[in-house]
Amino acid sequence: MIETSGVTKAYGDAVVLDGVDLKIPTGGLTSIIGPNGAGKSTLLSIISRLTPMTSGSAWVDGLDVSRTPTDQLARRLAILRQENHIAARVTVRDLVSFGRYPHSRGRLTFEDRAHVDQALRFLELEPLADRFIDEMSGGQRQRAYVAMVLAQDTDYVLLDEPLNNLDMKHSAAMMRLLRRAADELGRTVVVVLHDVNFASCYSDCIVAMRDGRVRRSGPPEEIVQPEVIREIYDLDVTVHEIEGHRTVFFYR
Ligand SMILES: Nc1ncnc2c1ncn2[C@@H]1O[C@H](COP(=O)(O)OP(=O)(O)OP(=O)(O)O)[C@@H](O)[C@H]1O
Ligand SMILES: [Mg+2]
Repeated sequence: MIETSGVTKAYGDAVVLDGVDLKIPTGGLTSIIGPNGAGKSTLLSIISRLTPMTSGSAWVDGLDVSRTPTDQLARRLAILRQENHIAARVTVRDLVSFGRYPHSRGRLTFEDRAHVDQALRFLELEPLADRFIDEMSGGQRQRAYVAMVLAQDTDYVLLDEPLNNLDMKHSAAMMRLLRRAADELGRTVVVVLHDVNFASCYSDCIVAMRDGRVRRSGPPEEIVQPEVIREIYDLDVTVHEIEGHRTVFFYR
């Protein structure tokens, strides 16, 4: 389980996370939604120890994030940041191999290579494995970064806007793949999404943030409701149930 208690982050006088209490259960797929600037990326950064919190506590599988050494946490939890993007001239396979660093410390074992191959296969990147990442499209590169994160073989996988740059087909494929990572590989997947319909269709739980706070948290049936969308985004929409999933439509 990922748990936070009273997590607060301030930059000077600006409080960008304001006492976040959250429980993300082990297993399954949890989506975090909310407008730009709500604090979604800051929260993921704090949980993965990339950003120090101003006050409060966070635990991953009972490990206190503030007290657990980075390399120990890195074997439990991997994160794809919103902007992580290495500009170096490396191939897809090299990039994915970097994901094994917490295990290999730079010397890849047979097992490390097997994880790299599995991640490349999982993201259908085998035909592109020897391409340089700076010579690929934005969406292809995005898949390579996700492969790097999955190759870390951690129980917890946090992805900040993994659908960035992906077309509709690859977005759906990515969400199906993250579902499989949860269902078949037993990972706990936490993903920041802007598309509420993707969140509705693929999540077990949706966390809705606004102004540095978690306003709502629950199954898609509870969160994908016109009142909640209005509360979170100041936006009037209609919601219909289609094939068992609540789907947002916009007024013209
Ligand atoms: N290093 C920083 N210094 C000062 N303010 C920051 C810093 N990083 C983030 N912020 C502010 O914190 C708030 C939350 O930012 P955050 O990136 O967590 O939002 P977000 O919900 O991920 O938004 P988006 O959907 O645009 O990615 C924003 O108002 C942002 O301007
Ligand atoms: Mg963000």
